[in-house]
Amino acid sequence: MENGGENTVNIKYCSLEEGSLKEIEDLVTESFAKDENTLKLCRSCEGGQTEDHRPWVKKIITSHDWSVSRLAVDAATGTVAGVCLCDMSTLDQPTRALEPMAQTDSEACRLTAAFLHQLEGDYNPFKALGVDKVLCLNMVGVDKRYRRQGISLELRRQCLELARQQGCQAVVNCATSPFTRKALVKLGFERVKFLPFTQSVLAGVEKVDLSGCGPDDGGALMVLRL
Ligand SMILES: CC(C)(COP(=O)(O)OP(=O)(O)OC[C@H]1O[C@@H](n2cnc3c(N)ncnc32)[C@H](O)[C@@H]1OP(=O)(O)O)[C@@H](O)C(=O)NCCC(=O)NCCS
Repeated sequence: MENGGENTVNIKYCSLEEGSLKEIEDLVTESFAKDENTLKLCRSCEGGQTEDHRPWVKKIITSHDWSVSRLAVDAATGTVAGVCLCDMSTLDQPTRALEPMAQTDSEACRLTAAFLHQLEGDYNPFKALGVDKVLCLNMVGVDKRYRRQGISLELRRQCLELARQQGCQAVVNCATSPFTRKALVKLGFERVKFLPFTQSVLAGVEKVDLSGCGPDDGGALMVLRL
């Protein structure tokens, strides 16, 4: 597929098979596990430091469906610049891609998984949208050196296109970053639900410091019909 358009660096978008698994693991650890807002809030909990996340990160890369996931690589240097991990879900075969997050030794990650679970609540996209196959756009991470060049937006666009080709009729995303929410609106997503961190399972957990969180800090359940 073609480049995103406005990138200053020449980025090649490709399948995860075309990248090195170790580099993808480094990227998810250094971008998502380090900077994602919920994991950041849980940093003081057991297993909350960046490197503590590596074991579940390793598992989560392969628990996703690579046929609807996408990688961004710096065409000049071959550096893995970004990744978007997605999975498909049907009524008969619900996604299990995020299970490694709930089953890890890292308390910080288990708390994050619990927050995402609470955000999803009893929302059933099959029932709510009347569809039978959904793309779960679970994890986007872009290397710090490559941010603000439209890479995450293009990765998502390409995953949506792959999902459409495979018969998905909708996309679901839990967005914990205000930047992601802004980007998803650009792609046509609508907000179904919002859960502030201060009203979630994180509130009352001693090592989670929510003092810097306002009512707009939290996670949004966002959906798009394809
Ligand atoms: C969030 C993240 C994936 C964004 O990646 P990115 O490639 O820099 O994002 P893009 O350049 O595609 O930005 C798309 C849009 O998001 C918004 N955005 C992204 N980063 C932003 C920032 N630092 N400040 C303000 N807006 C931002 C903007 O609307 C941007 O469009 P614009 O540049 O035309 O205004 C990246 O910062 C990251 O890896 N963060 C850590 C992991 C994480 O939080 N993942 C998302 C969890 S929901």
